Amino acid sequence: MPTIRVSLGDRAYPIHIESGLIDRVGDHARQVLGDCTLAIITDDHVAPLYLARVEASLDAAGLRHHSIVLPHGEPTKCLAQLSHLYDFLCESHITRKDAIIALGGGVIGDLAGLAAATFLRGIRFIQVPTTLLAQVDSSVGGKVAVDLPQGKNLVGAFYQPAAVLCDPLTLNTLTDDYWRDGLGEVVKYGCINDAELFALLEACAPGGRAALMDRIDTILQHCIQAKADVVAQDEHDTGLRMTLNFGHTIGHAVETCQHYDGLRHGEAVALGMSVMTRLTEARGMTAPGTAQRLDALLSALEMPMALPAIPEDDLIAAMGMDKKSAGKALRVIVLDEIGTCRIHTTEATFFRGMC
Ligand code: NAD
Ligand code: GLY
Repeated sequence: MPTIRVSLGDRAYPIHIESGLIDRVGDHARQVLGDCTLAIITDDHVAPLYLARVEASLDAAGLRHHSIVLPHGEPTKCLAQLSHLYDFLCESHITRKDAIIALGGGVIGDLAGLAAATFLRGIRFIQVPTTLLAQVDSSVGGKVAVDLPQGKNLVGAFYQPAAVLCDPLTLNTLTDDYWRDGLGEVVKYGCINDAELFALLEACAPGGRAALMDRIDTILQHCIQAKADVVAQDEHDTGLRMTLNFGHTIGHAVETCQHYDGLRHGEAVALGMSVMTRLTEARGMTAPGTAQRLDALLSALEMPMALPAIPEDDLIAAMGMDKKSAGKALRVIVLDEIGTCRIHTTEATFFRGMC
């Protein structure tokens, strides 16, 4: 079983990647946490598919458990549901020696993680990510949060899990939309620091989802190793971790201008990576041929590459409001070539001419 470690001193933790792991959550929980009670937090899409199996594995490992099933979707990542979780944790008599299991995609991981970070001033939690996006990105690195009406992820913390248990077979039940959503982030890792992953994706993409699933263990290992390495070097997102935002400046601006009701996040990131690379290559900042290679892969994966009809001024204004921009300075990620990138400090006007 491939195991990747996030090296964070006394907060280091393992990420296990293994088909069928969903049925062995109990063994791993006992190994990592010892004897305790588990509060399983999941959503109403994931629960019918996997909750009983996780509960059975906890029973087999002799661990007590309570479960709560929340509505699926981004609106669940809110203060009201966080408060609801505190009620559930109190009613379940969860103490500081107990723990939470986050079973689901990034919404459940972020929300349950924030509950773990704050309940009783912090209890342990295990991430069991079930979407591609959650497996390659959100379950690793300790960013936990809820949204406010004013914006996404505005209340949160850096709070690392005790372990991440990643079962690639859970991806078989994902809808094509959410599969493609996660692929945007997968391509991103290939672009920013892993030319070998990029080449593997190029080889598999013509065979569609089935061909990618045939190599999913390898794909997950590459992505998760990349994320673990970045997080170990820059847990609090002050330098290297920003490279994970490649494609996100344009992507977030598109999502904002579409009021989060247009492209999905992964699609917006794919589009952002494509537009950004065409822009930087045309300005001599990126090796010739990089944009064409990226676009060929995105096209084979049926990801969007053209900007929707949004006025450029609106996109640029949205970038200026991105919470990751410090004052007028905007730090954007530029590819040197496929597999390497750098942080470039500029301002939103850098993007003039992208439309
Ligand atoms: P999600 O959690 O809403 O899951 C997507 C959909 O798939 C949901 O309807 C869910 O019920 C369903 N689902 C989950 N697993 C399934 C499975 N195995 N089979 C069938 N259906 C399944 O969305 P997501 O894309 O996983 O995560 C998005 C969230 O992640 C956003 O809130 C975003 O802000 C956050 N995020 C966090 C980080 C981080 O570092 N913490 C990074 C990236 C994104
Ligand atoms: N998803 C970006 C990060 O974890 O920093």
